Amino acid sequence: MKIKSVKALEILDSRGNPTIKTTVTLEDGSAGSAAVPSGASTGAYEACELRDGDKSRYSGNGVLTAIKNVEEVIAPAIIGHEADEQEKIDSLMISLDGTENKTKLGANAILSVSLAVARAAAVSKGIPLYEYLTKFNPDFSGKYYLPVPMMNVMNGGKHADWATDIQEYMILPVAAKTESDAIRMCAETYAQLKKVLKSKKYGIAVGDEGGFAPAVSSNEEPFELMKEAIENAGYVLGKDIVFGIDAAASEFFKDGVYELKKEGKNVSSDELSAFYHGLVRKYPIYSFEDIFAEDDWSAFQKFTAELDNKGQVVGDDLYVTNVKRLERGIAEKTSNSILIKLNQIGSLTETVSAVNLALRSGMTAVISHRSGETEDTFIADLVVALGTGQIKTGAPCRSERVAKYNRLMEIESELGPKCEYAKFPFIA
Ligand code: PGA
Ligand code: ZN
Repeated sequence: MKIKSVKALEILDSRGNPTIKTTVTLEDGSAGSAAVPSGASTGAYEACELRDGDKSRYSGNGVLTAIKNVEEVIAPAIIGHEADEQEKIDSLMISLDGTENKTKLGANAILSVSLAVARAAAVSKGIPLYEYLTKFNPDFSGKYYLPVPMMNVMNGGKHADWATDIQEYMILPVAAKTESDAIRMCAETYAQLKKVLKSKKYGIAVGDEGGFAPAVSSNEEPFELMKEAIENAGYVLGKDIVFGIDAAASEFFKDGVYELKKEGKNVSSDELSAFYHGLVRKYPIYSFEDIFAEDDWSAFQKFTAELDNKGQVVGDDLYVTNVKRLERGIAEKTSNSILIKLNQIGSLTETVSAVNLALRSGMTAVISHRSGETEDTFIADLVVALGTGQIKTGAPCRSERVAKYNRLMEIESELGPKCEYAKFPFIA
């Protein structure tokens, strides 16, 4: 079905910053909308998030220029094209932009159209988005896999005023039998965590991704607090639930050293690595995202070799969902996993290429939200369609996070016996 119109609107994300929502309408009246998220601990190599820079509005963060690009540059070029020709539409937008990092039109402008086109196409075909998106999954067999949620229950770093140097402390309910069980296990643990924090007179305010962010005494203390919460919820740490972290280490890498403010010291890559190994000896941590800075390729490579597939080393700022950076990572065995964020690269087609390249190369792929989110749940459908088996979309708190979990439970109930809960590959 052909595209008839493309309209964009300036809306707010979960931090109250402006972002774009685009609606694509087809000739049969089917319409699809998509809203673009925004990062805070962004990678240096991410595609361009175009902001107006006009200080009289939203401190320069407005997106009216990007909206103009959608309506005046992109719309005339794609109107009349078939909405289900995703690759064609994406590559048309990429060439209209013509720059390496989408600096001319803005990755936010391009992505909003890219995702809205996919939604409109699914609506026109009368099928759910996750089903429509399986056309991008070369391994799709008819069976759907619902992802292990990596729930970020304690926040630090840039997302929580540096409560800890490590940005995210995650729980992974690996022993769940179904998606709704997995989400319940995390929500129950989260509720217990709140009680644990209260009992220790810690604050229970939350960070950008809904995790608690109290003034703990060290980067290690959150593991103890989460351990207590998991036990109080009646689960076995290391069996039912395991840990994951996102250090977002680029954010505390300054002048060649890693600045651990919480520990009051600056450390080298090797010392930071030793710190992580120390944590592994004490806690069942199976996912290590951005544990070094985005250009510290050799530190990643060394840690990945040492971990020896006993867990995943996830590249977020390291790869920025970019096939070129991922290719280097594959060639040099820099990591065995990639974090996938649509707006780091700026189109559905390029995102899917990164996922498929990673999976083909034996890596895992975690589909992820951003710290600045909207109520859009596209990533829930995407992770189910691509069957990567892992999603990172925050704590079971704050509606922009919970919306994704609710969508996953809805998909699970719709699919019934056609789906199963994914196995986390690093646990027997
Ligand atoms: P961001 O954080 O969206 O602020 O980049 C999420 C992450 O680092 O994974
Ligand atoms: Zn990250």
